[in-house]
Amino acid sequence: MSAQKLAALGGRPVRTRPWPEWPVYDERELNALKEVLESRKWCRMYGQKVEQFEEAFARYQDARYGIAVANGTAALEIALKAAGIEAGDEVIVPAYTFIATATAPLQLSAIPIFVDIDPDTGNIDPSAVEAAITGRTRAVVPVHFGGRAADMDRILEIAQRHGLTVIEDACHGWGSTWKGRKLGAIGLAGGVSFQQSKNITAGEGGIILTNDEEMAGKCYSLQTIGRVAGRPFYEHHLAGWNYRMTEWQGALLLVQLERLEAQTQTRWDNARFLDEQLKAFPCVRLLRQDPWVTRSSVHVYMARYGEAAMEGIPRDRFLKALNAEGVPAGSGYPHPLYRNPLFTEMHFGRKGHPYTCAFYGKPVDYAGCDCPAAERFCRENISIFQNVLLGDREDMQDIVRAVEKVWENREMLKENA
Ligand SMILES: Cc1ncc(COP(=O)(O)O)c(C=O)c1O
Repeated sequence: MSAQKLAALGGRPVRTRPWPEWPVYDERELNALKEVLESRKWCRMYGQKVEQFEEAFARYQDARYGIAVANGTAALEIALKAAGIEAGDEVIVPAYTFIATATAPLQLSAIPIFVDIDPDTGNIDPSAVEAAITGRTRAVVPVHFGGRAADMDRILEIAQRHGLTVIEDACHGWGSTWKGRKLGAIGLAGGVSFQQSKNITAGEGGIILTNDEEMAGKCYSLQTIGRVAGRPFYEHHLAGWNYRMTEWQGALLLVQLERLEAQTQTRWDNARFLDEQLKAFPCVRLLRQDPWVTRSSVHVYMARYGEAAMEGIPRDRFLKALNAEGVPAGSGYPHPLYRNPLFTEMHFGRKGHPYTCAFYGKPVDYAGCDCPAAERFCRENISIFQNVLLGDREDMQDIVRAVEKVWENREMLKENA
């Protein structure tokens, strides 16, 4: 056992230096914002920054069309609506994801159906998708969680066999590849987020990616209150929203995109280095390396906690010890989505009335939801955010040293729990 005292027990931390700051900016962002300011064209209907970003990002992401929107949540709502999802349709979503994956169908009065994840990757389990299909299922929304591509071969095959639409939640997918191909337009369409924590950001923002011309036209119209490009300003064709991205966001994202490729490669190289080094410590169980994940954006570097190897020390105690050593590791979502009050207390529909979607034909009830792999993933998850992965090799070595120190001092940690 190491003689070094754990920082959590009063010893010296492995690391006190700060981690790379996020978001990153330099004078290019300042100039881009100044240019928009001085142009007095702050809305996309008058300027060209958003349009330029749509083209550049779609190209980068191997998609024919990109339709920028206010955020990733809006991107998913619009994509589902443009795909024809209607009230009472069932939309299959993973239980382990951000709330917007499930609220997007709900906002269309469609019914999100939660299915379990693959415990070794955190991504939707294709077998669970197939088992959940009913006569009412219209779509499936695989999430490429943390930037690791879901099993798209199986999902596309199942979707094709059952006539389902695939809308990717590629909100973590910037620069990630599935069998060498970027994410977002592998299914009919996909949504991407540019919120502040994301690997390319304008504080908020989103984009819909698709290779389908008709989808692109509908998505464009839906984000700008039903207008159609080239038609009169006050002629509205669809019941859309004002979910437009601003020129400020477009200008910032064009600059952020210039850094994305190099940053993505850095995160990916660092993640592989960590995998290689951390496999020596049974307190950290690595996720499976699927052959189709040819690159991940590593929005979140994830692993699972090995509680048994750590002699029963609770995960959160382990994380606190790592934090004390200077490593900002967290625990991800506390519970699967269906445990949120939104679903347990059915906070949709009219207050005081049990929710029955008029078009569904039966009461909606999430009380029986049980996705054991997602439940377990929430208990075991260890997450490190993307900005940390922008560090250099010495920074990554600090993570390894901290894990090693906590591992070697596990008995001491247990005694002082
Ligand atoms: C998996 C996933 N889906 C959707 C969203 C929604 O994106 P936004 O926050 O831009 O609305 C997020 C963002 O946190 C996300 O992580």
